[in-house]
Amino acid sequence: MGTLEGKVAIVTGGARGMGEGEARRLIEEGAKVIIADVLDTEGEALAAELGDRAHFVHLDVTDSASWAAAVESTHEVFGPVDILVNNAGILTQAPVDQTPEEDIRRIYDVNLVGPFLGIQAVVPDMRATGKGSIINIASAAGVVPMQFLSAYSSSKWGLRGLTKCAAMDLGRDGIRVNAINPGGVRTPMAAGADESMFAAFAIPRIGEPLEIGAAVAFLASDESAFITGADLTVDGGMVLGAMAPAE
Ligand SMILES: NC(=O)c1ccc[n+]([C@@H]2O[C@H](COP(=O)([O-])OP(=O)(O)OC[C@H]3O[C@@H](n4cnc5c(N)ncnc54)[C@H](O)[C@@H]3O)[C@@H](O)[C@H]2O)c1
Repeated sequence: MGTLEGKVAIVTGGARGMGEGEARRLIEEGAKVIIADVLDTEGEALAAELGDRAHFVHLDVTDSASWAAAVESTHEVFGPVDILVNNAGILTQAPVDQTPEEDIRRIYDVNLVGPFLGIQAVVPDMRATGKGSIINIASAAGVVPMQFLSAYSSSKWGLRGLTKCAAMDLGRDGIRVNAINPGGVRTPMAAGADESMFAAFAIPRIGEPLEIGAAVAFLASDESAFITGADLTVDGGMVLGAMAPAE
């Protein structure tokens, strides 16, 4: 028996990258997973590969009507939502004074308003069943500042703040809300990264999506029943800082 047998999860941005790793890990633990994304072709293909415990729904996290439709589809296919993984996110890089207004607004919309709307969409189910776990995928860039990432970094700082406020508002309903701060992880978002930079950290390599999936599975399960409002940094030591080269 897995730790998530009988639970129903929504993973946003689940069609590829980290979300795909999280969906795979939740299914391994026995959950039924709605893969929710704007990438229909990739999402449909992944759900078909993962079998009966996976189902794809189109979801734009910035749109509350899209959230309502996704939750309704979840009810029809698997039942009430027990677990929400707010994983969808976008990133652009530019110095703070050269970041286009359009990018600032779009990043906040996807990375911060999206999870906010997601929480609002699933709370009725979780309140009705008296239990739920919401996991927000923030970033190491929301723990330490990173150059040229002011829009992204501040959106993730905001997401950590949302996590803690929501944990306070929802705890008495049996709903836990936590964040994960990944470091560099091998996904399409990180495709341009020079992997040699990871040699400076305590665990000198890039992370894998399934390693974030393992942390998501833990926070989704009753193994973490007394943990809420927390950040779990899963970054190979990135936020500890760069170290001298090994001898
Ligand atoms: N890869 C890293 O090194 C890294 C590090 C720290 C945090 N993160 C965070 O992890 C999460 C997953 O990122 P990833 O690396 O897998 O990136 P990715 O670009 O590979 O995947 C992001 C997914 O989100 C989806 N998405 C984007 N906008 C959406 C929207 N409006 N509605 C629904 N889905 C949408 C995309 O279609 C894609 O499938 C993001 O929140 C990202 O900020 C990534």
